Order: sequence, then C-alpha cells, then structure tokens
Amino acid sequence: MTKTIIANFKMNGSKEFIHTYFDHLDTSSNNTVIICPPSLYLDQTYQCINQKSSRSIHLGGQNCSHQSSGALTGEISATMLADVGCRYVILGHSERRTLHGETSSLIKQKTQQALDANLIPIICVGESLEQRQKGLAEKIIEEQLTESIPHLSNPSSTYLIAYEPIWAIGTGLTATKEDIEAMHTFIRQHPTGQNTSILYGGSVNGNNAAEILTLQNVDGVLVGGASLKIEEFNRIINQRVS
Ligand code: PGA
Repeated sequence: MTKTIIANFKMNGSKEFIHTYFDHLDTSSNNTVIICPPSLYLDQTYQCINQKSSRSIHLGGQNCSHQSSGALTGEISATMLADVGCRYVILGHSERRTLHGETSSLIKQKTQQALDANLIPIICVGESLEQRQKGLAEKIIEEQLTESIPHLSNPSSTYLIAYEPIWAIGTGLTATKEDIEAMHTFIRQHPTGQNTSILYGGSVNGNNAAEILTLQNVDGVLVGGASLKIEEFNRIINQRVS
C-alpha cells in the first residue's frame, strides 16, 4: 500500500545542504514523497527533483499567503508556489498557529488560495498537552477541521490532513498507537471531501515510522527533525506497508 511521507525542513538547510541531500536521497521508494524546504530553496529543490526524474517525489511549500497578490511584504502567494513547481502546501502548522498567531479562519483563507492555485493543501491540526489532559482533544480537532477547511464547495478536492499533537512535535514524544488510531478514525468521520488522506506527525523517526504507518487510518507521516538526516529519512520513505 502506498503511503505519503512529507519532509518538513522548517527553517533549516542551505544550498549546499539541498545539493548533498539529493545526492543521497533514495528514489526507489514506492511511497509518495513530498519535500518541503524553506521557500528560498524551492526552485533549487524543484531542479533537484527533476534531475532525479522520479515520479514519486514532489515539492511542497511550508506556508502561503491568505491573499492572491498585493502589498504584503515578505509574503508568498499560492500561485507563486505553483509557479515554481509546488504541488502541495503545508497550512496551519502548529508553529504558525502558536508562534505567528494564525487562526483557523486565516488558515481557511489560505486553504482556499491553495485550492484556487491547484495546490493540494496539507492542513495541520493538533491539540496541546493541556487540552488532551482535560479530555478536549477531539473537540479541538473538530473545531480546527471545521474552521480551517473551506465549506465543501468542491467535494472532489484533494486534502491531506496532518494530525500533529503539539506536545509530540520536536519533543521525542509520540502519541500512543491507540491515541493515533482513535484520532485518525475520528478525523476520518469528518466531512472533508472524497479524497482525504490522514497523516500523523510528531517525532516520527526511522525507528517508529514502520509501526505508525501500519496503523488503521494512517495514510502517511509528516516528518520534521528526522527528515533533515538523509539516512534516516531514506529509512522512513522505504517502509513498505502491506
Ligand atoms: P518533528 O516535527 O518530526 O520534528 O516532531 C514534525 C512537524 O512539526 O511537522
């Protein structure tokens, strides 16, 4: 069964890093691989992907503007991402929600921009530890899904939803198998469109990816820190799940 594996480089890397990364990236994987470098390196990454001439590796942005163009210094539009070869864009990552104060309603506008530019949105949702401990996890996820995804004007739109518990991101803690399965099953019931894949993110690495990828309703993983280590990322993308 093909899975989707996303590398989120966050604000890491350099021209040299990307060059070396692609020298070592294993292109024999059957899984769909999406590389999301910092915006400055999208073009370079696109060239590297083309040189690999692999149909399973794609380019994604880490964010886009909620507007299509205009006086928005420092912003990048969804159309620009598409213009430099992106097929996907990560939206609503918890680091954007918490560090940049992005609300679900802003993310909804960004998602609409992405869809208008024919990009596939990767919408991140996740609860804090406090919210989980108070038994609010499902309520928070339901709210984030409802408020971040535009009203289903086109039910055939493709979405990727990444469930990323905030407390598991970059901490080395992963949600338990049972918690992942329960939340993914819950998300599956949400009316997000016919073509929705649900990914897990939060301290996924070369050792735990195989087990996570075999869980029910887990269509792939979103990998942060471990995606920067090419040997480890190769192990993740080469997981075969029957
Ligand atoms: P992590 O990050 O794999 O380093 O926990 C995941 C993410 O933030 O998408």
